[in-house]
Amino acid sequence: MNIVVTGGAGFIGSHFIKHILRKYSGYKILNIDKLTYAGNPENLEEAEDNPDYTFVKEDICSKRIIEKVVEGYDVIVNFAAESHVDRSIEEPEVFLKTDVMGTFNLLEICRTAGFKKYIQISTDETYGSAGGGETFSEESPLNPSNPYSASKAAADLLVLSYSKTYKLPVNIARSTNNYGPNQYPEKFIPLFVTNAIEDKPLPLYGDGKNVRDWLFVEDNCRGIDVILHKGIDGEIYNIAGENERENIFIAKKIIECLDKSEQLIKPVKDRPGHDRRYSISCGKIKGLGWKPEVSLEDGLRLTVDWYKTHPQWWKKIKSGEFLEYYKKHYK
Ligand code: NAD
Ligand code: TYD
Repeated sequence: MNIVVTGGAGFIGSHFIKHILRKYSGYKILNIDKLTYAGNPENLEEAEDNPDYTFVKEDICSKRIIEKVVEGYDVIVNFAAESHVDRSIEEPEVFLKTDVMGTFNLLEICRTAGFKKYIQISTDETYGSAGGGETFSEESPLNPSNPYSASKAAADLLVLSYSKTYKLPVNIARSTNNYGPNQYPEKFIPLFVTNAIEDKPLPLYGDGKNVRDWLFVEDNCRGIDVILHKGIDGEIYNIAGENERENIFIAKKIIECLDKSEQLIKPVKDRPGHDRRYSISCGKIKGLGWKPEVSLEDGLRLTVDWYKTHPQWWKKIKSGEFLEYYKKHYK
């Protein structure tokens, strides 16, 4: 299989590339990534010398260039996106450009070049906030709350329209919140882990009782692999961690893993339009033989240990672009 991975220098995409290269021999991977603030070639050091791996620094919005470089490949897995909700609230435009127009470009390329499969990496956030006891399935309506999730939902609808209208063989993977090594430290878990290591405050939004369902990144990659090989054309697959927890629970667990004081937890102003809870069912992908394998306890320990032992990876990030963002956002 010759796979184009877009956004492969980011958190989940880089794990997916390493997963595929480790598991299959003879698969070629072309990683197209613009290297925004979130893209980091260090995430792929392991793949650099692999003859089956090629990297091209490019924007998925540059259609003419992308259609040339993908010649000879037959599948696109699209991870490329602006991915942080708080940034989407502050500067939404780039989310529409990359997440919607970028997806549109890739779909057009797949349609005209006759690709065998297009997989859109989407999110449970497109369903919006779930009420107590409510759990969304693949059939639930989309009800996004912020410019990030609205852009991802718009992209999903475009993908489905290409399936219905042009019979493009597509799948959509909607996963819950991922965590693990190499996640950019603007996101909740790596921000709290790295702040706690440095004895800095952990800025907990609102009452800390918002619920997220935590999925270890390698479990997500195995799920996407299953969809790639067994997914039925035109189908959406939810990928859940089955670990719904309040944010305050995760914050306390991180403190416990690092043997720090709970005094570090600092309640701050809530995020506008903050979704209270995400909850999805994943029976459909379980029917293809997948299930989450890493427990939250093990995954969190592994993640905390990785950040403890890789300060060179995140200290550089936290002193660069991230620092400007952090000062502005948490002022
Ligand atoms: P990330 O922000 O870590 O990585 C995104 C990558 O896309 C970066 O390498 C960046 O350089 C690249 N990129 C951004 N704009 C681009 C463009 N215009 N052209 C080419 N490359 C571009 O994100 P992530 O957490 O790895 O998420 C990957 C995908 O998974 C996203 O589509 C996101 O919506 C989805 N997702 C993420 C989570 C999560 O918890 N992180 C959960 C569900 C779904
Ligand atoms: P985040 O990692 O941004 O993912 P998402 O909003 O896409 O689910 O945030 C996860 C949860 O953590 C969410 O409820 C918001 C909360 N949060 C904080 O309490 N403090 C923070 O500094 C951040 C970044 C997030």
